[in-house]
Amino acid sequence: MRLDCFLSKQAAYSRKSVLQLISQRQISVDGITVNDRCHPVTNVSLIEISGKPLTPSQPARYFMLNKPAGYLSATTDKQHPVALELLEGIEQQGLHIAGRLDRATTGLLIITDDGKWSRKLTEPKQKIPKTYLVETAYALSPETPQRFTEGIYFSYEEMTTSPALIELLDETTARLTIYEGRYHQVKRMFAAVGNRVVSLHRESMGEIILDSKLELGAFRALTAQEINSLN
Ligand code: URA
Repeated sequence: MRLDCFLSKQAAYSRKSVLQLISQRQISVDGITVNDRCHPVTNVSLIEISGKPLTPSQPARYFMLNKPAGYLSATTDKQHPVALELLEGIEQQGLHIAGRLDRATTGLLIITDDGKWSRKLTEPKQKIPKTYLVETAYALSPETPQRFTEGIYFSYEEMTTSPALIELLDETTARLTIYEGRYHQVKRMFAAVGNRVVSLHRESMGEIILDSKLELGAFRALTAQEINSLN
Protein backbone atom coordinates (compact mmCIF):
# COMPACT_ATOMS: atom_id res chain seq x y z
CA MET A 1 0.00 0.00 0.00
CA ARG A 2 1.12 3.63 -0.55
CA LEU A 3 2.58 5.40 2.48
CA ASP A 4 0.03 8.27 2.38
CA CYS A 5 -2.95 5.87 2.15
CA PHE A 6 -1.55 3.69 4.93
CA LEU A 7 -1.04 6.62 7.31
CA SER A 8 -4.37 8.25 6.50
CA LYS A 9 -6.08 5.09 7.77
CA GLN A 10 -4.60 5.72 11.23
CA ALA A 11 -7.02 7.71 13.33
CA ALA A 12 -4.33 10.15 14.50
CA TYR A 13 -3.36 11.39 11.01
CA SER A 14 -5.43 13.30 8.47
CA ARG A 15 -4.41 13.14 4.82
CA LYS A 16 -3.32 16.79 5.00
CA SER A 17 -1.12 16.23 8.05
CA VAL A 18 0.43 13.18 6.42
CA LEU A 19 1.41 15.15 3.29
CA GLN A 20 2.85 17.91 5.47
CA LEU A 21 4.94 15.45 7.49
CA ILE A 22 6.26 13.85 4.30
CA SER A 23 7.24 17.22 2.80
CA GLN A 24 9.00 18.12 6.07
CA ARG A 25 10.93 14.82 5.80
CA GLN A 26 9.62 13.75 9.21
CA ILE A 27 8.72 10.22 8.15
CA SER A 28 11.04 7.25 7.78
CA VAL A 29 10.28 3.72 6.62
CA ASP A 30 12.58 0.93 7.79
CA GLY A 31 15.17 3.52 8.82
CA ILE A 32 15.18 5.55 5.57
CA THR A 33 13.68 9.04 5.35
CA VAL A 34 10.96 9.11 2.74
CA ASN A 35 9.93 12.07 0.59
CA ASP A 36 7.58 10.22 -1.76
CA ARG A 37 3.98 9.86 -0.65
CA CYS A 38 3.64 6.81 -2.93
CA HIS A 39 6.47 4.98 -1.16
CA PRO A 40 5.33 1.35 -0.74
CA VAL A 41 4.73 0.06 2.80
CA THR A 42 3.37 -3.17 4.21
CA ASN A 43 1.97 -4.16 7.58
CA VAL A 44 5.46 -5.12 8.70
CA SER A 45 7.19 -1.87 7.68
CA LEU A 46 8.70 0.04 10.58
CA ILE A 47 7.32 3.56 10.18
CA GLU A 48 8.71 6.35 12.35
CA ILE A 49 7.27 9.84 12.60
CA SER A 50 9.62 12.51 13.92
CA GLY A 51 11.85 9.70 15.18
CA LYS A 52 9.08 7.90 17.11
CA PRO A 53 7.66 4.54 15.96
CA LEU A 54 4.10 4.81 14.67
CA THR A 55 1.73 3.79 17.44
CA PRO A 56 -1.28 1.98 16.02
CA SER A 57 -4.63 3.54 16.85
CA GLN A 58 -6.05 0.22 18.11
CA PRO A 59 -4.42 -2.22 20.53
CA ALA A 60 -2.43 -4.80 18.55
CA ARG A 61 -4.08 -8.15 17.88
CA TYR A 62 -2.41 -11.58 18.00
CA PHE A 63 -3.93 -14.95 17.04
CA MET A 64 -2.91 -18.56 16.63
CA LEU A 65 -4.64 -20.67 14.00
CA ASN A 66 -4.42 -24.42 13.52
CA LYS A 67 -3.93 -24.20 9.76
CA PRO A 68 -5.50 -27.00 7.71
CA ALA A 69 -3.89 -28.27 4.48
CA GLY A 70 -5.09 -26.54 1.32
CA TYR A 71 -5.01 -22.99 2.68
CA LEU A 72 -2.46 -20.46 1.45
CA SER A 73 -0.53 -18.40 3.99
CA ALA A 74 -1.77 -15.20 2.41
CA THR A 75 -4.30 -12.46 3.05
CA THR A 76 -6.03 -12.82 -0.35
CA ASP A 77 -5.75 -15.07 -3.39
CA LYS A 78 -7.86 -15.45 -6.51
CA GLN A 79 -7.37 -19.23 -6.84
CA HIS A 80 -7.06 -20.80 -3.42
CA PRO A 81 -8.64 -20.35 0.00
CA VAL A 82 -6.43 -18.30 2.32
CA ALA A 83 -5.69 -18.79 6.02
CA LEU A 84 -7.05 -15.37 6.98
CA GLU A 85 -10.56 -16.25 5.90
CA LEU A 86 -10.66 -18.81 8.75
CA LEU A 87 -10.62 -15.93 11.27
CA GLU A 88 -14.38 -15.68 11.26
CA GLY A 89 -15.79 -12.60 12.97
CA ILE A 90 -12.39 -10.86 13.10
CA GLU A 91 -11.75 -7.59 11.23
CA GLN A 92 -8.98 -8.55 8.80
CA GLN A 93 -7.75 -5.05 7.94
CA GLY A 94 -4.10 -4.71 8.95
CA LEU A 95 -3.51 -8.37 9.83
CA HIS A 96 -0.58 -10.32 8.40
CA ILE A 97 0.93 -13.76 8.84
CA ALA A 98 4.08 -14.04 10.96
CA GLY A 99 5.96 -16.98 9.44
CA ARG A 100 4.22 -18.55 6.47
CA LEU A 101 3.52 -22.23 5.97
CA ASP A 102 3.28 -23.98 2.59
CA ARG A 103 -0.21 -24.72 1.32
CA ALA A 104 -0.03 -28.40 2.31
CA THR A 105 1.56 -27.75 5.73
CA THR A 106 -0.69 -27.85 8.79
CA GLY A 107 -0.38 -26.50 12.31
CA LEU A 108 0.64 -23.36 14.13
CA LEU A 109 0.14 -20.17 12.14
CA ILE A 110 0.48 -16.82 13.89
CA ILE A 111 -1.48 -13.84 12.65
CA THR A 112 -1.07 -10.31 13.98
CA ASP A 113 -1.12 -6.63 13.07
CA ASP A 114 2.02 -5.90 15.12
CA GLY A 115 4.84 -5.73 12.56
CA LYS A 116 7.60 -5.10 15.08
CA TRP A 117 6.55 -8.13 17.15
CA SER A 118 6.24 -10.39 14.09
CA ARG A 119 9.74 -9.44 12.92
CA LYS A 120 11.11 -10.65 16.26
CA LEU A 121 9.40 -13.97 15.66
CA THR A 122 10.47 -14.46 12.06
CA GLU A 123 13.76 -12.72 11.27
CA PRO A 124 16.44 -15.43 10.79
CA LYS A 125 18.92 -13.45 12.95
CA GLN A 126 16.57 -13.81 15.94
CA LYS A 127 17.09 -17.60 15.85
CA ILE A 128 13.66 -18.40 17.28
CA PRO A 129 13.21 -22.22 17.35
CA LYS A 130 10.40 -23.59 15.17
CA THR A 131 9.41 -27.20 15.73
CA TYR A 132 7.80 -29.42 13.08
CA LEU A 133 6.49 -32.96 13.00
CA VAL A 134 7.75 -34.40 9.73
CA GLU A 135 6.78 -37.53 7.86
CA THR A 136 9.11 -38.64 5.09
CA ALA A 137 8.69 -40.81 2.00
CA TYR A 138 11.76 -42.96 2.73
CA ALA A 139 13.29 -44.33 5.93
CA LEU A 140 15.28 -41.69 7.82
CA SER A 141 18.96 -42.43 7.33
CA PRO A 142 21.24 -42.70 10.38
CA GLU A 143 23.35 -39.83 8.96
CA THR A 144 20.43 -37.39 8.94
CA PRO A 145 20.86 -36.09 12.54
CA GLN A 146 24.55 -35.37 11.99
CA ARG A 147 23.99 -33.68 8.61
CA PHE A 148 21.32 -31.46 10.16
CA THR A 149 23.54 -30.66 13.16
CA GLU A 150 26.37 -29.64 10.83
CA GLY A 151 23.95 -27.49 8.82
CA ILE A 152 22.76 -27.84 5.24
CA TYR A 153 24.23 -25.52 2.62
CA PHE A 154 21.59 -23.63 0.58
CA SER A 155 23.34 -22.49 -2.61
CA TYR A 156 20.57 -20.07 -3.61
CA GLU A 157 20.96 -18.04 -0.40
CA GLU A 158 24.67 -18.94 -0.10
CA MET A 159 24.19 -19.86 3.56
CA THR A 160 24.37 -22.87 5.81
CA THR A 161 21.39 -23.58 8.06
CA SER A 162 21.94 -23.25 11.81
CA PRO A 163 22.42 -26.55 13.61
CA ALA A 164 18.98 -28.17 13.74
CA LEU A 165 17.75 -30.65 16.33
CA ILE A 166 16.11 -33.83 15.12
CA GLU A 167 14.44 -36.54 17.16
CA LEU A 168 13.73 -39.73 15.18
CA LEU A 169 10.31 -41.00 16.26
CA ASP A 170 10.00 -43.99 13.95
CA GLU A 171 11.34 -45.10 10.57
CA THR A 172 9.74 -42.24 8.66
CA THR A 173 8.68 -39.74 11.34
CA ALA A 174 10.77 -37.11 13.09
CA ARG A 175 10.43 -34.01 15.21
CA LEU A 176 12.66 -31.27 13.79
CA THR A 177 13.59 -27.93 15.33
CA ILE A 178 15.07 -25.29 13.03
CA TYR A 179 16.26 -21.79 13.88
CA GLU A 180 15.49 -19.88 10.69
CA GLY A 181 12.46 -19.90 8.43
CA ARG A 182 13.91 -19.95 4.91
CA TYR A 183 11.73 -20.66 1.89
CA HIS A 184 10.65 -24.36 1.97
CA GLN A 185 13.40 -24.86 4.53
CA VAL A 186 12.33 -28.23 5.95
CA LYS A 187 11.59 -29.74 2.52
CA ARG A 188 14.93 -28.54 1.17
CA MET A 189 16.82 -29.92 4.19
CA PHE A 190 15.32 -33.39 3.71
CA ALA A 191 15.87 -33.21 -0.06
CA ALA A 192 19.55 -32.49 0.64
CA VAL A 193 19.84 -35.84 2.46
CA GLY A 194 18.04 -37.73 -0.32
CA ASN A 195 14.62 -37.89 1.32
CA ARG A 196 11.23 -36.25 0.64
CA VAL A 197 8.74 -34.69 3.05
CA VAL A 198 5.25 -36.11 2.65
CA SER A 199 3.61 -34.28 5.53
CA LEU A 200 4.60 -31.36 7.70
CA HIS A 201 2.93 -29.96 10.80
CA ARG A 202 4.25 -26.99 12.83
CA GLU A 203 3.94 -27.55 16.58
CA SER A 204 5.59 -24.44 18.02
CA MET A 205 7.40 -21.16 17.41
CA GLY A 206 9.58 -20.08 20.32
CA GLU A 207 7.51 -20.52 23.48
CA ILE A 208 4.23 -20.39 21.57
CA ILE A 209 2.89 -23.94 21.33
CA LEU A 210 -0.09 -24.90 19.18
CA ASP A 211 -3.04 -25.28 21.57
CA SER A 212 -4.08 -28.95 21.54
CA LYS A 213 -7.70 -27.85 22.05
CA LEU A 214 -7.76 -26.14 18.63
CA GLU A 215 -9.29 -28.33 15.93
CA LEU A 216 -7.90 -27.90 12.39
CA GLY A 217 -9.19 -24.56 11.12
CA ALA A 218 -9.90 -23.19 14.63
CA PHE A 219 -8.15 -20.17 16.14
CA ARG A 220 -7.82 -18.22 19.40
CA ALA A 221 -6.22 -14.99 20.62
CA LEU A 222 -2.71 -15.36 22.05
CA THR A 223 -2.47 -14.98 25.83
CA ALA A 224 -0.47 -12.09 27.34
CA GLN A 225 2.15 -14.64 28.40
CA GLU A 226 2.51 -15.93 24.83
CA ILE A 227 2.79 -12.39 23.45
CA ASN A 228 5.33 -11.34 26.07
CA SER A 229 7.41 -14.48 25.60
CA LEU A 230 9.14 -12.71 22.71
CA ASN A 231 10.27 -9.69 24.72
N1 URA B 1 9.48 -25.63 5.75
C1 URA B 1 8.85 -26.06 4.64
O1 URA B 1 9.45 -26.66 3.76
N2 URA B 1 7.54 -25.79 4.55
C2 URA B 1 6.80 -25.16 5.49
O2 URA B 1 5.59 -24.98 5.33
C3 URA B 1 7.49 -24.74 6.65
C4 URA B 1 8.83 -24.98 6.75
